[in-house]
Amino acid sequence: MGDIEGFYMKSPDSCLWVAVLEDKVVGIVAAVVQQKPGGVVELQRMSVGRSWQRRGVGMVLGRKVVEFAVTHRYSSVVLGTTAYKPAAHLLYQRLGFPV
Ligand SMILES: CC(C)(COP(=O)(O)OP(=O)(O)OC[C@H]1O[C@@H](n2cnc3c(N)ncnc32)[C@H](O)[C@@H]1OP(=O)(O)O)[C@@H](O)C(=O)NCCC(=O)NCCS
Repeated sequence: MGDIEGFYMKSPDSCLWVAVLEDKVVGIVAAVVQQKPGGVVELQRMSVGRSWQRRGVGMVLGRKVVEFAVTHRYSSVVLGTTAYKPAAHLLYQRLGFPV
């Protein structure tokens, strides 16, 4: 995270979005291409500030990554999470990921 511009924004193979509400950054998510051509995009760094959760920000951020994959014609979106993150599991389920 020390060099967002260099790591995520200089290549067409990655992107990072921030959600802004009331002039504050309240959430982030990133997409990084893992396999080319036609391959796989990884959703990374999904996070919404505690006091901004349950307002749909995570859904909007997740959809951005899916849109990125569709626009660039990647075949799938993958992500990693752990059993200790039930809120994230429910969010990803709502976004259509098999859990
Ligand atoms: C997971 C996280 C990103 C969700 O962000 P969010 O903005 O609160 O999510 P949304 O408001 O868009 O929620 C969408 C759906 O996900 C589910 N969900 C999200 N948080 C939930 C919670 N705490 N409990 C139950 N369901 C939850 C619900 O189905 C929700 O829809 P609903 O509010 O209509 O019921 C947020 O809780 C977070 O940042 N957690 C800490 C970091 C983390 O775990 N990141 C994921 C790493 S894999």
